[in-house]
Amino acid sequence: MRIKIRKTAAAVLFCVGMLVLCSCGKGEDETGGKKYIGVAYYNQSDTFLNELLDSFREQLKELQGQDMETVVMIRDAAGSQRTQDDQVKELIDAGCDVLCVNLVDRADPSEIIDLAREQNVPIIFFNREPVAEDLMQWDGLYYVGAEAEESGRMQGELAADMIRADSEIDKNHDGKIQYVVLEGEVGHQDAIIRTETVVETLIGQGIELEKLSNQIANWNRAQAENRMEQLLGQYHSQIELVLANNDDMALGALDAYRKLNYTESALPAFFGIDGTDEGLEAVMDSEIAGTVYNDKEGQAGAMARLSLALLTGKGMDEIEFQKERCIYLPYEKVTEGNVSEFLLRSR
Ligand code: BGC
Ligand code: CA
Repeated sequence: MRIKIRKTAAAVLFCVGMLVLCSCGKGEDETGGKKYIGVAYYNQSDTFLNELLDSFREQLKELQGQDMETVVMIRDAAGSQRTQDDQVKELIDAGCDVLCVNLVDRADPSEIIDLAREQNVPIIFFNREPVAEDLMQWDGLYYVGAEAEESGRMQGELAADMIRADSEIDKNHDGKIQYVVLEGEVGHQDAIIRTETVVETLIGQGIELEKLSNQIANWNRAQAENRMEQLLGQYHSQIELVLANNDDMALGALDAYRKLNYTESALPAFFGIDGTDEGLEAVMDSEIAGTVYNDKEGQAGAMARLSLALLTGKGMDEIEFQKERCIYLPYEKVTEGNVSEFLLRSR
């Protein structure tokens, strides 16, 4: 019995100790010291988001100035909304003053919003856009991202220009472009809208298309390689154009052609979106015909400025919002002709 009581006492002491440790974020911030920013993102295997978050940390350091220190705590949900809900709770308990959340399931933010609202911790959602009604649930909610429709249109315009300029893209000279689409995740605003608009744009530009296949590859290079290998088994050299919802999937498609030893002349034209480091290199090396720059530095900068404004209460009026609480950064077209500008920017 005595042993049991001692054990319980030890456990209580341990818990109190943990509480003191965990709440140190708030303690120090009340004394004007460190501020804690919690970042929760859907999956640490995502190339674009990893590059965006590197830029976020860098820009935050530059912008915060001498008299302030921020600590960024990053959590990876590994694709589970349940895990992310728990992580957000943990970040709030640890004393975070602002949260940046990249939802796993963009249609399911209610639990996170309730937790944050209870503790009055503002949330900057980023990249995976909650639906408008959810964002309007509380005035401590913001969104930073880009307009998916613009990226699809630009990818379509890039492809149309190139098809008109190079008659060899229509390899079998039947006047039609045989194409496949590699799509991101089901339910992601960027996947749905990019796929729709790129095809609409090409048709609107008078390009005759023949769809061979649409495949979901979840933004992922290895999955895209796999899907493409299957498509090659079916269509061999018939594919003339690969429209990928992001660069990683365009690169994965190219990996499949390389793995199966296709000759250069048998390769289709590949188009991506993002301008990740590897995506830009591939445009530079003419492996990918073009991409659309998803301005990660601009988005990360907006997140950093907004975080600091929410932490300090200063600088909010200098931030320009669309739809009241959203910030959308413009996309830009990238081709071999201008890719070097983007390579400089992303370093
Ligand atoms: C990017 C993808 C990324 C996805 C993650 C998109 O905006 O283009 O590369 O995987 O966001 O949510
Ligand atoms: Ca053709």
